[in-house]
Amino acid sequence: MNIILLGAPGAGKGTQAEVICDKLKIPAVSTGNILRAAVKNGTEMGLKAQEFIDKGALVPDSVIIGIIKERLAEPDCANGFILDGVPRTVAQAEALEQMGVVIDKVVDLEVADEIIIHRLAGRRVCSACGASYHVENKPSREPDRCDRCGGALIIRKDDAPETVKGRLKAYHELTEPLIAFYRERGKLVVVEGHESIADTSELLLKALEA
Ligand code: AP5
Repeated sequence: MNIILLGAPGAGKGTQAEVICDKLKIPAVSTGNILRAAVKNGTEMGLKAQEFIDKGALVPDSVIIGIIKERLAEPDCANGFILDGVPRTVAQAEALEQMGVVIDKVVDLEVADEIIIHRLAGRRVCSACGASYHVENKPSREPDRCDRCGGALIIRKDDAPETVKGRLKAYHELTEPLIAFYRERGKLVVVEGHESIADTSELLLKALEA
């Protein structure tokens, strides 16, 4: 199954992608994670992308389309994948169609902006492996240490409240039109993302089975 997870920043795409991957045994492809790895490794693409990420703006479509083309050609994507955080513009969605990528379902994870602001304020991520936590909703066993690898937990630079405002603005202007784009193609399912992480996973898996 080829799935797209749509949703605002902090809607829970990364958290839920992990659950679906586990259940369906398919990889999650997160452009955010790929870009952050490039920033960490100091590659040319990473340095260029960092300017946009730090401002809460979208990275240019041409860069994202190149990343996704390369990633989807890898053998682990042959039996299905979950796209987390991509496409984020109509141009990216059209590029996927032009590449001949067939999407089975698009899940729109709907969460109100006020809840997103609270979620991103409490998010902590592992500086080593990128695992994501929340100080109240998904705390690590040891404070500020990753359960998975023991790495130090940090606050993502783009989770600063001013940057979150910019990310939400970019979402409403540039990404939200994809809801209509995929509804017209009969691919869209809407999942209410306000419930607990476990309850949202249940709703999401049911929507995928339907
Ligand atoms: P990216 O990393 O994709 O960030 P994002 O879309 O802004 O999404 P997040 O990772 O912030 O949130 P999420 O929805 O995964 O939520 P999470 O599960 O962590 O992109 C970063 C940047 O890269 C972009 O701003 C842009 O610059 C660039 N970029 C990436 N892709 C791009 C593209 N295609 N085109 C152009 N630019 C691109 O959950 C958030 C928090 O809430 C966590 O702490 C979690 O524990 C908690 N939580 C999750 N679910 C629940 C729940 N149900 N109840 C309570 N708490 C919950």
